[in-house]
Amino acid sequence: MAKKTLVSGVKPTGRIHIGNYFGAMRQFVALQDSYHAMIFIADYHALTTERNPKTLREQTIAIAMDYLAIGLNPEKTLLFKQSDVPEVVELAWIFNCITTMPYLSRAHAYKDALAKDKEVNVGLFDYPMLMAADILIQDADAVPVGQDQKQHVEITRDTAEKFNRIYGDMFTLPEHLILSETETVPGIDGKKMSKSYGNIIPLFASDDEIEQSVMSIVTDSKGVGEPKNTEGDTLFSYHRLFSTGELPEIERRYREGGIGYKESKEMLIKNMRAFIAPLRERREDIAKDTARVTAILEKGGERARERARKKMSFIRERVGLS
Ligand code: AMP
Ligand code: TRP
Repeated sequence: MAKKTLVSGVKPTGRIHIGNYFGAMRQFVALQDSYHAMIFIADYHALTTERNPKTLREQTIAIAMDYLAIGLNPEKTLLFKQSDVPEVVELAWIFNCITTMPYLSRAHAYKDALAKDKEVNVGLFDYPMLMAADILIQDADAVPVGQDQKQHVEITRDTAEKFNRIYGDMFTLPEHLILSETETVPGIDGKKMSKSYGNIIPLFASDDEIEQSVMSIVTDSKGVGEPKNTEGDTLFSYHRLFSTGELPEIERRYREGGIGYKESKEMLIKNMRAFIAPLRERREDIAKDTARVTAILEKGGERARERARKKMSFIRERVGLS
């Protein structure tokens, strides 16, 4: 049977963190054998917030390096830059013309920006249409993401259905793939880990950064002997990710009492360092050969664009543009 297609991307807007990795990116690696995988760097989407061209360029190549460092294999996964497939912008325009303002006004990202009194540019408002185009232009069956992107995949399905209803069958309805245990990884302050909240632990953190981050994890004031909560506890939730071998023992000591937060943090620092060091070293090696990384993106971009062009020619025909 032909492999199903998987599409996902990450915005180049800051350092990748453990929320990105455990929520979304580790799925990219785990699924690259069983799917026809297409993973991109969402640089058009980053333009909704990033106005510095040098920063955007640097962060774009940085994400490509991150992808390689976590184990994406360019022989198996098509790695590319979103803007190397400009057809998505054309498709997003077509979607704009069949989507209403009230419908898009219900998107969380837009509502959050309004609630925070942020300036909302048209690109931010229209963000879900471009994302729908990224997914639908490649006929994706599956979209691995974290919980915060679930609504965007639902909007994508709605948009595909609406197009199919108006113009006849054209698009596959994609499914989101969300890992329930890590759908929302908390930040060191207990809120959702996010590049924009200043509460992240970088995936490629140095040993010092790991120590500083873990030491700033917010805990309650229970003493060593007191029983402690495992559910809803940020520190413990990181043990679930990094202390797998010792987890039953740590969990028992939390429940019964007999472990203090200081000791718990020290264990976490040790385990996190052991997990991150090899990733960081691989990342450092990859960064030595920027030309190779650029070449991988170029080649991936050509192949992704080729597929998108073919799909776009059917779409143009269907709506009456050709
Ligand atoms: P972004 O950095 O917004 O481009 O996000 C890239 C991917 O990481 C998306 O699939 C997000 O859903 C996922 N993600 C971001 N933050 C978290 C988090 N705190 N927990 C789980 N997944 C996340
Ligand atoms: N909106 C996604 C994020 O912020 C990035 C993204 C853009 C994406 N287009 C996509 C993810 C298509 C999956 C599929 O994380």
